[in-house]
Amino acid sequence: MKRLGLFWVLAMLQACAVENVDSEVSETASSDAYATCAACHLANGVGIPGGFPPIRNRAAAIAGLEDGKAYLITVVSFGLMGQIEAGNMPYFGVMPGNKGPMSVADIAAALNYTVFELVDDKSTVASIDPFTADEVSAVQSNTSVGSPNTAAMIRRELVARHGDKWPE
Ligand code: HEC
Repeated sequence: MKRLGLFWVLAMLQACAVENVDSEVSETASSDAYATCAACHLANGVGIPGGFPPIRNRAAAIAGLEDGKAYLITVVSFGLMGQIEAGNMPYFGVMPGNKGPMSVADIAAALNYTVFELVDDKSTVASIDPFTADEVSAVQSNTSVGSPNTAAMIRRELVARHGDKWPE
């Protein structure tokens, strides 16, 4: 019993230490903020074929497109619904929005982790500016109707302009 008690004390100390570090870097890549996403897209971002699309390398490629960052912020804030194709596989799912449960800083941190950490070749994202809380707020307040369909509409425009092989 004593041993178990010590274990919990140590575990809690460790949890506090992790939390402190994260609050200092809340707008930079945070795997804590990404934990919400990992539930569906998995810790390494490869997703589950046919269920949850891969975002590893893919979000990085999208972030490099004109208006791509705003699309990513819209997806994470308001969700995404409708048929999409990712990695030559169709998906017809619903991703819930996170505005509310996640602060703008958390959304920026989750996106920074997704784009800058879940990418095999980091040189491909070297020229992309990190997401900031202000940028997330701006996209959220510019979006008149924030729903999973809003992101689906923006996605259709992106696909029309750039195709949907992300990455090529
Ligand atoms: C409950 C499961 C779930 C969670 C949690 C979730 N997603 Fe998703 N995500 C999905 C599904 C399902 C889709 C595809 C929706 C569709 O078929 O229209 C998707 C789509 C996406 C896309 C669009 C990919 C493309 O090709 O356009 C991105 C980017 C994304 N998610 C990132 C994230 C990030 C970042 C988080 C965490 C903040 C997250 N998701 C949390 C289920 C989830």
